[in-house]
Amino acid sequence: MSRQPGYLAPDVTVASTLPRRGAASAVLIVPVVSTGDDDRPGAVVAAAHPFLPGEAVAEIEAGLRALDATGGSEQVNRLVVPSLPVGSVLTVGLGGPRDEWPADTLRRAAGAAARSLGGAESVITTLSELDMAATVEGLILGSYRFTAFRSEKTAPKDRGLRKITVLSTAREAKTQAAHAAAVAAAVATARDFVNTPPSHLFPAEFAARAQALGESAGLDVEVLDDKALQDAGYGGVIGVGKGSSRPPRLVRLIHRGSQLAKNPKAAKKVALVGKGITFDTGGISIKPASNMHHMTSDMAGAAAVIATVTLAAQLKLPIDVIATVPMAENMPSGTAQRPGDVLTHYGGTTVEVLNTDAEGRLILADAIVRACEDNPDYLIETSTLTGAQTIALGTRTPGVMGSDEFRDRVAAISQRVGENGWPMPLPEELKDELKSTVADLTNVSGQRFAGMLVAGVYLREFVPDTVSWAHIDVAGPAYNTGNPWGYTPKGGTGVPTRTMFAVLEDIAEHG
Ligand code: BES
Ligand code: MN
Ligand code: ZN
Repeated sequence: MSRQPGYLAPDVTVASTLPRRGAASAVLIVPVVSTGDDDRPGAVVAAAHPFLPGEAVAEIEAGLRALDATGGSEQVNRLVVPSLPVGSVLTVGLGGPRDEWPADTLRRAAGAAARSLGGAESVITTLSELDMAATVEGLILGSYRFTAFRSEKTAPKDRGLRKITVLSTAREAKTQAAHAAAVAAAVATARDFVNTPPSHLFPAEFAARAQALGESAGLDVEVLDDKALQDAGYGGVIGVGKGSSRPPRLVRLIHRGSQLAKNPKAAKKVALVGKGITFDTGGISIKPASNMHHMTSDMAGAAAVIATVTLAAQLKLPIDVIATVPMAENMPSGTAQRPGDVLTHYGGTTVEVLNTDAEGRLILADAIVRACEDNPDYLIETSTLTGAQTIALGTRTPGVMGSDEFRDRVAAISQRVGENGWPMPLPEELKDELKSTVADLTNVSGQRFAGMLVAGVYLREFVPDTVSWAHIDVAGPAYNTGNPWGYTPKGGTGVPTRTMFAVLEDIAEHG
C-alpha cells in the first residue's frame, strides 16, 4: 500500500498456546490485578493461567511481591521468569479484580505495556484472552511512533514493535484480531498525516497522498484544484486559501459499498467531511506566536475522514461512503482575504468574514453543500474547529453536535470505542449571533460565549433538513500536546477515526 513515509504496523499472529521455542527475545505481556493482600499485592489475572506453566504464575507473583508492585491501573513491571521460554515478562496492572473489564481499560493497559517495551521487537500476550480487539488495538496504537523526519543522529536504534502474538482460545480470535489490526492501522495512517509537518504537507501534497492511499484501497478519487474550485464557485475554500502561495484543493473519495450489500437499493449512503487546514496561522486575524505550531494539527479532521473511508473500502463495508475533503493553508499575505470581505459559498450563501481565523467553517460549509448534493442518508463532519471545544470539554472529550438522534447515536458509539465524544446542543437563539449587516451570515459571533456551539450553528445552516448529521469538534482530542497516556502518544492521536468507522459499521448493520 502506498503510504506516506510513516509508521509501519507490526504483524499480528493468533496462537492458542505459548510457543515453546523461538521466543527467546520476546516479551510476554501478562495482565495483573491488585488484591489488597500484603502477601500477594499483585496477582496474575486468572484468564492468563491456562497459557502459563504451573510454576510461572507463582514466579511472576513472587517477582511482583519483591518489587512491591500492586497491579494498579497501567502500572508496568519487567521480570525475568526462568520457567518461561521468553526473554522477560512485562506485567501490566488492571486495577482491582473484577469479572469483566471495560474495553478501554484493557486497550489502555495494552497501550501502556507497548510504550514500555524499551526496543523489544516481538511480544506475546495473554491479555487477548480478556478482549482480543482491545488488546490488538492497544498494542498497535501504543507502539506507534513517527520517525520520518529523524536523521541517523536521533533515529531510534531499534525497529520498534514488529511482531505481536496474541494468545486466545476463542473461536473468532483470528477474525477479531485482523479486524482490530486494520482499524489500528487506519488510526496510524491518520496520525501519520497529522504528524507530517506543514512544510511537507500542504494542500496539493495532502491531496496527492490522499489520492494514492484511496486508489490503493480501490476508492474512486476526484481532486479539484484551485482553478476547478474557482470555476465551480467554492468561495469559502478559495477565500481561505488565497493568502497562501500553496493553492487549495478539494478531494472526493468514493467507496461504492452498496454493490456489496444483499439488497443494494436499501443500502445507506454516508457522507464524510473533514477539515483540512494544513496550517492555520489565523490569516490576517493572526494568532499569537506561542503555540501556533500546534496548528499543524488543523487537518486532523481531514486525516481521520481519509483514513476512515479507506478502511471502509479495505474491510468491504456494504454501504456507500463518500468523503469530501477541503484542503487549504490559512496564511496572511498581500493576497489574503481581509476581515470585512464578503464571500459566496458553494451553493450561493454569502458570508461576511469578520475574523479570518474562523476559517474552518468557511471551507466546511462549501464541502457540506457539495457532500449533500449526493443525497446522503447521514453526514458526519469532523474538525479541529474551535479552541472553545477545549474550554468546554477539555483535551480528551470531543464535542458532538447535530441532529438530536444521530448526534446521540454517534456520541454513544464514541463512548463505546473509548474516544469518548459527548453530546452538546445547538441552541436556536445562537443563530441571531451570526446576523450580518451586509451578507446572509457573519462567520463569528460578537461575543465569546459558547464558541463551540456557535460554530456548529453556522454549519447547520448548510445541512438540508432531510440529512441526519453529526459534527464532531476534536480541537483538543485530535492532538496530544501533553505526555503520552494509555495508547495515546504525543502529537496526532487519530481521533475520531475509530468513532466514525464504528458508526459506519453500525449503519451497515442497523441502517
Ligand atoms: N483551528 C482553530 C481551532 C483550534 C484551536 C484547534 C486550538 C486546535 C486547538 C480554528 O480555526 C480557530 O482559530 N478558531 C477560532 C474561532 C474564533 C475566531 C471564533 C478560535 O477557536 O479561537
Ligand atoms: Mn483558525
Ligand atoms: Zn483552524
